[in-house]
Amino acid sequence: MASTIRYIADADLGLKSVTDVFVNGDFIASDQATVSVFDRGFLLGDGVYEVIPVYAGRCFKLAGHLNRLKNSLAGVKMANPYKDQEWEALLDTLITRNGGGDQALYLQVSRGVAPRDHVFPEGVAPSVFMMTNPLQARSEQVKTQGIKAVTLADSRWQRCDIKAISLLPNSLLKQEAKEAGADEALLIRDGFMTEGSASNSYAVFDGVIYTAPKNNHILPGITRDVVLSLAKQAGIEVVEEAVSEARLVGADELWVSSSTKEVLPITTLNGQGVGLGKPGKVWQQIDALYQQQKRRHCDGS
Ligand SMILES: Cc1ncc(COP(=O)(O)O)c(C=O)c1O
Repeated sequence: MASTIRYIADADLGLKSVTDVFVNGDFIASDQATVSVFDRGFLLGDGVYEVIPVYAGRCFKLAGHLNRLKNSLAGVKMANPYKDQEWEALLDTLITRNGGGDQALYLQVSRGVAPRDHVFPEGVAPSVFMMTNPLQARSEQVKTQGIKAVTLADSRWQRCDIKAISLLPNSLLKQEAKEAGADEALLIRDGFMTEGSASNSYAVFDGVIYTAPKNNHILPGITRDVVLSLAKQAGIEVVEEAVSEARLVGADELWVSSSTKEVLPITTLNGQGVGLGKPGKVWQQIDALYQQQKRRHCDGS
């Protein structure tokens, strides 16, 4: 089991510089990091992950992310390798080693290194990998003009509540959206919108926000939790009910949300304008509150 994958030098991946990553207990330069080719994450996509935004050197909504990690691990019958405080310390070290500021942290836990077999190995330590990526600031164009989406059949499995590293269906859907000239796919299961290929989704009708309920057909987004609590704070009604595909064309507003993209207004769906064809009033209200919450986080309040 000595075989390892040597990461391609960062320069070959078009990355600006070598970053520090965390691999199985060690902080190490990304161009020196190695993992076994027998890792079940590599061979079977057998693992779970989190993406955590970092603003001003501090993780945003860390408790929510660590809690979802616990649920994902339990969902795939894996033990959590670290206690919350240990995760926190490791993440803080990685943030500091990579210069603080704004970052997108990625962490994954896979079932570990074992001879390839569908059945789980016994007594194998999980593999833990963490890296950081630049957190792209939202462009002015997205804020003023919104993004494009297409509807596609939700071809994923029945456990979309688990943040599993096996993302081939999501990847195929996002690629199909891209090839159709869109930024995101809104997924339709049994005639109802579940979520985006890499985001939660929302529709606004007459000032009321509709979003699919938390169940096995959506990922319980941390940003979704923030959006719902901001809406409550602002006195905007939220209905946790999936919207039918047929009703989507009549929505006043459509949005998607994720930790790295925040809340984005969709202004074109399947080539047709959504509502007035520009980011809507309810989105503007929620986005302003979201930005305020981020600023408070950066100020440490
Ligand atoms: C399928 C899917 N749904 C929802 C989300 C949003 O989750 P969060 O707000 O926690 O980033 C993501 C994020 O990557 C996702 O991949």
